[in-house]
Amino acid sequence: MIIAIDGPAGSGKTSIAKRLAKKLNMFYLDTGGTYRALTLKALEGDLDLKDEVALQAIAKNLNLKIEQDRIYLDGRDVSEKIRAPFIDKNISKIVSYPKVREAMVSLQRRMAESGDFVVEGRDITTVVFPQSKFKFYLDAEFAVRVQRRFKELENKGVQIDFEELTDDLKRRDEADINREVGALKQSPDAVYIDSTNLSLDEAAEKIVGYIRN
Ligand code: DC
Repeated sequence: MIIAIDGPAGSGKTSIAKRLAKKLNMFYLDTGGTYRALTLKALEGDLDLKDEVALQAIAKNLNLKIEQDRIYLDGRDVSEKIRAPFIDKNISKIVSYPKVREAMVSLQRRMAESGDFVVEGRDITTVVFPQSKFKFYLDAEFAVRVQRRFKELENKGVQIDFEELTDDLKRRDEADINREVGALKQSPDAVYIDSTNLSLDEAAEKIVGYIRN
């Protein structure tokens, strides 16, 4: 069984999906994390980010392991590193390439094949698992999403300028919505949930309610 969740950055997807997986005793796959790990690998290897074919080759051979909410790249725990602002700044270009996405979608399908998974990202309900019976689109007002991302970084001790973060999120939203392949959009059969005025637990409960019904 797959529960598919899409939504923009800061909509609370990650925290809600994790809670959901715990409540329903399922595994959890953060596909954003897989794209983040790919971006880290490309940056650490000094790859030309304009070289789609080279990036595709890396994506095809990506050695990733996900255990609970930890993510391992080539055996190294990169869970914190992939959430750093330097990844946010470079990721949009990499995830826009159709060849890269094709390789990553196959990887994500292979990863979630092995059991019951809550899978979250941007194109899960539309491209990765469109046949899933349980599809949700999580959203929240832009200002709330910026605030959540700011708090998340602050809690990790990462210093970032609020204005810079706002611009960054705006730029990533635009890139997510306007990409030619795997763009962020609400699947017509996905349940829309606005988490602006909900706590993460309330939003997770709402989704559990839909599933149990
Ligand atoms: O969910 P996130 O912010 O960790 O995602 C990081 C980036 O990866 C984001 O800019 C959008 C992209 N992404 C994507 O293109 N497709 C997905 N299924 C998940 C994330």
